[in-house]
Amino acid sequence: MITRRHFLARSPLALALAGAGCQREQPTESMSTPTSQRPLIVSTWPFGKPANEQALATVRAGGSGLDAVVAGIGVAEADLSNSSVGAGGLPNAEGVVQLDACIMAGPGHRAGSVAALEGIGHPVAVARKVMESTPHVMLAGAGAKKFALENGFPEVDLRTPEATAKWREWQATRDGDPGHDTIALLVLMPDGNLYGGCSTSGLAFKLPGRVGDSPIIGSGLYVDNEVGAAGATGLGENVMRYCASFLIVELMRRGATPGEACAEAILRTARQDPKGIDLSINFIAIDKQGRWGAAGTGKGFAYAVTYPGYSEVLPSLALSDLKVKAVGGHLEATGD
Ligand code: GLY
Repeated sequence: MITRRHFLARSPLALALAGAGCQREQPTESMSTPTSQRPLIVSTWPFGKPANEQALATVRAGGSGLDAVVAGIGVAEADLSNSSVGAGGLPNAEGVVQLDACIMAGPGHRAGSVAALEGIGHPVAVARKVMESTPHVMLAGAGAKKFALENGFPEVDLRTPEATAKWREWQATRDGDPGHDTIALLVLMPDGNLYGGCSTSGLAFKLPGRVGDSPIIGSGLYVDNEVGAAGATGLGENVMRYCASFLIVELMRRGATPGEACAEAILRTARQDPKGIDLSINFIAIDKQGRWGAAGTGKGFAYAVTYPGYSEVLPSLALSDLKVKAVGGHLEATGD
């Protein structure tokens, strides 16, 4: 067993954090809630705050951890002003909205997922149905849609006028990246069990059939009931090649705090990736003790933390603050 002390002593992140002189300041340090303050809900982006609050209300009304994940993410999926999740999502290159989502339950280590789902507005709820009523983990494309329809999910026209207009603009230039702000939402329940979900319309104007990290267990989301949970937002291609959410949970297992684990996953990716630190990847994590943290490339990103009596949008650790630079193919703290 590697202790946290040993982990940090050997970690390039420890050097980077020390070099940045910010080891003891928020948001670098992972934050935590007292055990009485449960459920703890953490999600990506400011639009995670109303999702968290719905998840909290769901638990307060007697709902389960899975109910909380589905109800919370459902808020973002139903928000037509959200152009990167659910019904308001931007379409693919052919003008078709294809949604990805997954869900995990700590107890039983269960998972469900849907990819490239068309014509269904709440993919995370379909992912839950896959988990709970099939022997499978993942359904994709036409099969996922058929399954959803057979299980009573209504077919809807996912193309909003706004998304269609943006697609037509993009068609004219084939230029620009309007972003890909996935919701990942993690829940630590009062009984100590962990749950999580992830939902996105994926990269705008993607090739038809392109699937990102969000529905891939271990990439866009991972929950281990012994350790913690992690979720991702950003460019899926740069998350899924590194199994980043799984990596973050495993780093926590070996002693890292959630914030350290998120930052270490980014640094490890940047050390190997041809793009180096110039990636667009962002992570949130919570552990079994109720600590949470987040880190993102560049200026970082905003994420939402909610528990009884508290609901805020916070800045993540920004990797640009760490003053790391490539030295001989490795990232090192510059110390200035
Ligand atoms: N992270 C969402 C995507 O790249 O599809």
